[in-house]
Amino acid sequence: MKIDEKYYRTIWPITGAASPENDAIFSVGIIDQTLLPHRFEVKELARLDEMILAIKTMQVRGAPLIGAAAAYGMALAVQTDASDTHIEKSAQALLQSRPTAVNLRWAVNRMQIALAALPLKARNQKAWEEARLICDEDVQINQAIGGHGLALIQDAAAKGSKSVFNILTHCNAGWLATVDWGTALAPIYAAHDAGMNVHVWVDETRPRNQGASLTAWELVKHGVPHTIISDNAGGHLMQHGQVDMIIVGADRVTSTGDVCNKIGTYLKALAAFDNNIPFYVAVPSPTIDWTIQDGLSDIEIEMRDADEVRFMTGLAKDGAIQTVRVTPIHSHALNPAFDVTPARLVTGIITERGVTAPNKLKQLFN
Ligand code: MRU
Repeated sequence: MKIDEKYYRTIWPITGAASPENDAIFSVGIIDQTLLPHRFEVKELARLDEMILAIKTMQVRGAPLIGAAAAYGMALAVQTDASDTHIEKSAQALLQSRPTAVNLRWAVNRMQIALAALPLKARNQKAWEEARLICDEDVQINQAIGGHGLALIQDAAAKGSKSVFNILTHCNAGWLATVDWGTALAPIYAAHDAGMNVHVWVDETRPRNQGASLTAWELVKHGVPHTIISDNAGGHLMQHGQVDMIIVGADRVTSTGDVCNKIGTYLKALAAFDNNIPFYVAVPSPTIDWTIQDGLSDIEIEMRDADEVRFMTGLAKDGAIQTVRVTPIHSHALNPAFDVTPARLVTGIITERGVTAPNKLKQLFN
């Protein structure tokens, strides 16, 4: 996507000087998402531990981008030591950085498989190639999701008689959460670019405000009309006919179509069901966990630091980014980062292969 006329992906390799062993030493560029929307800053990561920290602190975040970051993390690890022991140790360290998005495990496994059969001296080059391929594929997948989602929006808009088509989204499943384009936002960008009159209701997405800070920032940069709402406003808007469709992303989807996504998604699905509003989930295939069936019992929900609930970060009047406490000092707080929406509440899953009912996911990928 373009930021002020310059094209960016969310993650990219940076070529450095050549060494006697390698054609070139690489580091990895990322956009530090913890500073958005107030500051756009790029960071350069040179070591695996820096990448792990970036994933944990959510400088990079969103399931597909976490996968891409893990792939580049493996490449950084191999660059220093390509032995089997080091590859295994690095894979285990990455797997522990964030537990819910299955793209992380998918990318680490794919890197391990790509490297396993190669002689040590061929591994470094292969690792960078494979990570780059994972990123290129992510972009293609999301473009395809955008195309299939656009057809859904066009169909739904044609059936109604409103001049503006209102889509509600939760969290950030835009280009910042992927390598480019996004999942839930890809159909919205496609509809806007096709000249449709779309307007987006952006859930603020407490506690970390990915909607208010990241989705809104993306939509401003792309010129898509939108309004930020508090997380609790969605049900009211749905009851009053102001939401035509909901599209969200996912961190892990079971083979039976249960959807794990940012905390609060389930409540939106319940309200959508009660108000007969189509609830779609945009899902690239690396987000599907074919090994599990029951989202409620089989997915580990990340528990994050309760301080993310107790404190909020924003821009002070003097232009400094500040973090302030919003709760009493002695109150307990709890911070589950994701929830599970059962397949029965999901109207359809938008994948790179097309749109399907959640219980038909397997047939689509067979
Ligand atoms: O905790 P985050 O910000 O990594 O959570 C992100 C989400 O929940 C997104 O909706 C999901 O990863 C889909 S991203 C295309």
